[in-house]
Amino acid sequence: MTSGMKNIVILISGAGSNMQAIAKAAEQERWAKTLSARIACVISNKPQAPGLAAARDLGIATQIVDHQQYASREHFDAALQLAIDACQPHLVVLAGFMRILTPGFVAHYEGRLVNIHPSLLPAFAGLNTYQRALDAGCKVAGATVHRVTADLDHGPIIAQAVVPVMPQDTARMLAARILVQEHLMYPKAVRALLSD
Ligand code: GRF
Repeated sequence: MTSGMKNIVILISGAGSNMQAIAKAAEQERWAKTLSARIACVISNKPQAPGLAAARDLGIATQIVDHQQYASREHFDAALQLAIDACQPHLVVLAGFMRILTPGFVAHYEGRLVNIHPSLLPAFAGLNTYQRALDAGCKVAGATVHRVTADLDHGPIIAQAVVPVMPQDTARMLAARILVQEHLMYPKAVRALLSD
């Protein structure tokens, strides 16, 4: 491991488009030089997550910690923690990582663990955020980067991006509009956290 480097570990479960946005920013903005930071590893709990191949294509090391191979949430989190800690992380970035984390895991990474959630928290924690925003008649929606605490989707807010809700919106249309903003916001937020 390069000494003095701030290692970023990114956890994904799916497409990993936020991970790719962060990787692209790291490359284009030369984070290795400007921030002494690098993405050390991308870890997925899903062996088939398309984001894994995307990470490999970007030359980033990948690992799989398949939650289905573990008897309990505690066992899975312990294995995940081992895999993450092997990378000596300065920052652990949840990017579409669809697992509820145990309080012990969250405590272990206190101050180093961030998440992106596709709603304007504290509204619409949990799943189906787009449809819930539409059903409520929201005129704006968006995404939030926040510190992770044991309270699901309720940690201190780091950044938010707001988009308009259009009269004809479907959940899919709203999700796509929000995702564009996520890809701009998350790399910026990670960069700011690395500069602190
Ligand atoms: C994003 O909408 C993120 O806010 C949510 O899950 C989605 C992940 O997308 N937590 P991707 O895997 O980064 O493409």
